[in-house]
Amino acid sequence: MTVSEPLEGRTAVVTGASSGIGRAIAEHLGNAGAHVFLSGRTAASMEDSKKKIEESGGKASVVTGDVRDVAQIRSLVDTAVEATGRLDIMVNNAGLSYPASIVEGDAEEWRAMLETNILALLVGCQSAVKAMRACGAEGQIVNISSVAAQRSNSGVYGSTKHAVNSISSSLRDELEDDTIRITNVMPGAIATNFARSFDRDFINTMGKMAGMDIELEKGDRLSPEALDTLAENMKQLLGHPNDVARAVLYAVTQPIEVNIADIVVRPPKSMSVPH
Ligand SMILES: NC(=O)c1ccc[n+]([C@@H]2O[C@H](COP(=O)([O-])OP(=O)(O)OC[C@H]3O[C@@H](n4cnc5c(N)ncnc54)[C@H](OP(=O)(O)O)[C@@H]3O)[C@@H](O)[C@H]2O)c1
Repeated sequence: MTVSEPLEGRTAVVTGASSGIGRAIAEHLGNAGAHVFLSGRTAASMEDSKKKIEESGGKASVVTGDVRDVAQIRSLVDTAVEATGRLDIMVNNAGLSYPASIVEGDAEEWRAMLETNILALLVGCQSAVKAMRACGAEGQIVNISSVAAQRSNSGVYGSTKHAVNSISSSLRDELEDDTIRITNVMPGAIATNFARSFDRDFINTMGKMAGMDIELEKGDRLSPEALDTLAENMKQLLGHPNDVARAVLYAVTQPIEVNIADIVVRPPKSMSVPH
């Protein structure tokens, strides 16, 4: 007798799957039997994840795209539906933070956060609901918010995550008679490349505290191996993307009558920088 994986026969789309939390979620869903569509702008890392998923017997497809172009989000969902005939899980994860203050901040950086963290997530939710209804799925929509949404003074980035919490709650109400559940996930500080637009001194000091010889410039990305070392050596302050991915997998494998509505996944200590 063969034991089937919990997400066998399901189709999942994950935005921001080229790095960090989204990549870990995509790999967990793929390893649990879903056909995962990984989306992001950086193809190489998504191809690596696809290979890993396929080597463990799963199915994965890579769709490169920019979520700030709403037509590309709709087309991503269409691609998954055309290829597999269905959509069961949508993870709206792509996001970014520019931590400058409101007084000193740059309007184009605000636009990038508003379009990526809010508008793309809204369009992702809407496209997913239409696709899930069309195939009669017991659907799961997962929105990646942040613990920044638990504080009222978490800057422009935090404001975008307050919006995510509100969108998740409103959509949950809209869909209470549907077979589609909404899970809102609020991670604390997680070791990813999320901090690449933060103050360099902060990141380099963090690296030194972790015993790592790193000297980063603004925009530089750390390798997955370096991020693993950072998470391992800073366990009190930084979670691992897999910690969030396991929580998401738990939520999307519940019976449809059970809504894991809000999840906070964080390391034991908290940092003062919004994340
Ligand atoms: N790490 C944390 O401490 C933390 C804490 C709370 C919440 N979060 C949230 O977790 C989510 C994932 O962040 P992360 O920590 O995993 O950071 P990350 O390693 O920087 O990953 C961000 C992902 O979003 C994608 N992305 C950004 N802008 C995009 C765009 N315009 N079009 C398509 N993809 C885009 C990136 O893909 P590209 O390859 O295209 O750049 C990347 O895959 C975000 O929503 C973030 O707000 C993170």
